[in-house]
Amino acid sequence: MNSEAKPTKVLFVGFGNVGQKVAEILYLEHEKHPQTHSLDLSIIGIVTKSRGSLVNNNGIDVVKALHEIRDLGRFSWTNFELTSIKGLEAVQQLDYDVLVELSTLSIVERGEPALSHVREALKRGRHVVTANKGPAAFAYHELQSLAYQHGVSFLHESTVMDGTPVFNLARSGLKGCTITGVSGVLNSTTNFVLSRMEQGESLEEAVKVAQKEGFAEADPRNDLEGWDAAAKISVLANALMGASITPLDVDRQGITQVTVADAQNAVKAGKNLKLICSARRDGNQVHASVRLEEIERGHPFAPIRESGSILMIETDLLAPFVIAETDPTLYDTAYGVINDLMSLPQ
Ligand SMILES: NC(=O)c1ccc[n+]([C@@H]2O[C@H](COP(=O)([O-])OP(=O)(O)OC[C@H]3O[C@@H](n4cnc5c(N)ncnc54)[C@H](OP(=O)(O)O)[C@@H]3O)[C@@H](O)[C@H]2O)c1
Repeated sequence: MNSEAKPTKVLFVGFGNVGQKVAEILYLEHEKHPQTHSLDLSIIGIVTKSRGSLVNNNGIDVVKALHEIRDLGRFSWTNFELTSIKGLEAVQQLDYDVLVELSTLSIVERGEPALSHVREALKRGRHVVTANKGPAAFAYHELQSLAYQHGVSFLHESTVMDGTPVFNLARSGLKGCTITGVSGVLNSTTNFVLSRMEQGESLEEAVKVAQKEGFAEADPRNDLEGWDAAAKISVLANALMGASITPLDVDRQGITQVTVADAQNAVKAGKNLKLICSARRDGNQVHASVRLEEIERGHPFAPIRESGSILMIETDLLAPFVIAETDPTLYDTAYGVINDLMSLPQ
């Protein structure tokens, strides 16, 4: 996105924790991150569900938008950029080059409305960057094939392990390899809760702490029942192993049944309880699961404590290797979105 070219017009659908952090890094902390300066963006639309939407074809005043949403909890009624446009309308009608889809994941709605937002943007020949797992978990191949037909990109680095390079690494570092299996600890909330239960804290108490620290949702059921993990392993299986599965196909278990005694007995036996996601090739099929397992202390997943994640990738040519992230924050997720924006063709 060189300085001779026109700025890339961006539409944000969803402007919660992640959207605001992306904007904060690019607009409020601009001077601190010189390697992002090659991004030349004009944000022409920001759509939320209940906090108002902003549209300005000449570029929204993003700093003002950030202050309003933080100070007032919504965009100001006096902001001349304020409109009542909804997500799908904005995607279908506004003039933009890239859709940044950061709305909420819904398993019950099978990835909607994010899936329709992404599908419609790609059909219009617009690039899409998303951290929302829904579209890639429910319709990965349809969306990649739409992107291919229309000569645009569908990028989703932050859907798994926040911004830690997983899909980027596979694209650039595993050429010629067939990925035969992936496995790991991919859900921060459950790993945090299980770690705290080993210290004697109840599941309910540990969930409250995770909510206070900001990585567990107000409604933690998606995490505790294994749905978030099932969405992540579906994205990995679809994107890295050519599977066509959805979270509903994953052999899934959560941690709601675990007691403090279970967690502590595992520790006494030299093990740790972990919610393990895995996808493995079985002939032409890929079988994916999310299961509660007792991991031996020497296993590479055992040291991953609290909100950390780890992923092991197995291939036909390269020995199994792991990618790990420790103590992720919103910066990690926002960075994945920024990396995707910087990876789009000029
Ligand atoms: N937080 C993380 O660290 C993290 C990590 C990896 C992936 N993700 C994924 O990234 C996405 C965004 O996460 P977040 O933490 O920013 O979520 P969030 O704080 O809950 O924000 C979600 C945003 O989406 C908007 N929204 C919801 N439904 C919408 C609709 N139908 N049309 C338009 N806007 C809609 C919400 O509007 P209102 O504010 O009006 O409700 C809000 O602005 C999620 O899919 C999440 O799973 C998050």
